[in-house]
Amino acid sequence: MTMLDKIEKYLNEIENFQSHDPEEVENFRIKYLGRKGLLNELFEEFKTIPKEEKPEVGKKINELKTRAREKVNELKAAATSTSGRQIDDVTRPGYPEAIGSKHPISLTRQEIITIFTRLGYTISEGPEIEDDWHVFSALNFPDEHPARDMQDTFFITRDPDVLLRTHTSSVQVRVMENEQPPIRTISPGRVFRNEAISARAHCIFHQVEGLYIDKNVSFADLKQTLIYFAKEMFGTETQIRLRPSFFPFTEPSAEMDISCTLCGGKGCKICKYTGFLEILGCGMVDPNVLKASNIDPDVYTGFAFGMGIERIAQLKFNVNDLRLYFENDLRFLEQFKAKI
Ligand code: PHE
Repeated sequence: MTMLDKIEKYLNEIENFQSHDPEEVENFRIKYLGRKGLLNELFEEFKTIPKEEKPEVGKKINELKTRAREKVNELKAAATSTSGRQIDDVTRPGYPEAIGSKHPISLTRQEIITIFTRLGYTISEGPEIEDDWHVFSALNFPDEHPARDMQDTFFITRDPDVLLRTHTSSVQVRVMENEQPPIRTISPGRVFRNEAISARAHCIFHQVEGLYIDKNVSFADLKQTLIYFAKEMFGTETQIRLRPSFFPFTEPSAEMDISCTLCGGKGCKICKYTGFLEILGCGMVDPNVLKASNIDPDVYTGFAFGMGIERIAQLKFNVNDLRLYFENDLRFLEQFKAKI
């Protein structure tokens, strides 16, 4: 075969070559343009041919080299523009796009908000970095109360005290300072407590606290509100139980349990054979708290309640370790895709 025939054959091969596979394209490049490739072979052979043939053959070799380079560039561009995907079958169904999922804390917070907005509650938000007044003093915490201790609260400065809020009751103080009753509001938000991190405790978590102040608000109103919430959140068969408790800002105070979401009240490992699970704290707003925010306790009464979103989400989704909420492991988060 003469050199010109060979070059013609290679030109044909180059013209007909097709591939979207980056590896095949690279092999193609090496075959023609590599150090031991066909073009270098031709240049070697070129040295041996008679002088008269050189102009014509030389021109052809250069043409071949240019075509080979152009072809490699075209194929590479096509391969990257489809990010390596083969698009030769246009009837094939599209590649599904990976969709994200909402975090279980967001899902639960949204559900709680939806339930209370149906009852006419507004949503209030406030700062995470707070002063002593809004987190403790206005809420009737005595000076020596242990929650004010460094062991429980993250302080940023002392004297004046600047700290990370330990509950979102601080937001409700701000609402009471700025509005007169009727007040009906919930405050969802992030709170901070100086706790060692374990499966059952975390130094950052989320709360939704609620406040209702008007004339003639009674404990019966509180109970009815909480029953409605429990049934909406955990199902109509859910029972509640109120146990006497203590908080500086409510009097009387109670803790609320719901019938176990797993055994329905019969008793199991989750509810430690009591049939009930604790989910929130509540009570009638202490008159001292109303006074501190310039609301007349002789005219108005109110109730308040507060719950941890992690706890509600734990019961709804059977999450047995609080740390899962913060690690953002995709294997955990992806399980909530269907809940959007
Ligand atoms: N603020 C309390 C807490 O963080 C919860 C609570 C709110 C209790 C309102 C009673 C009334 O634990």
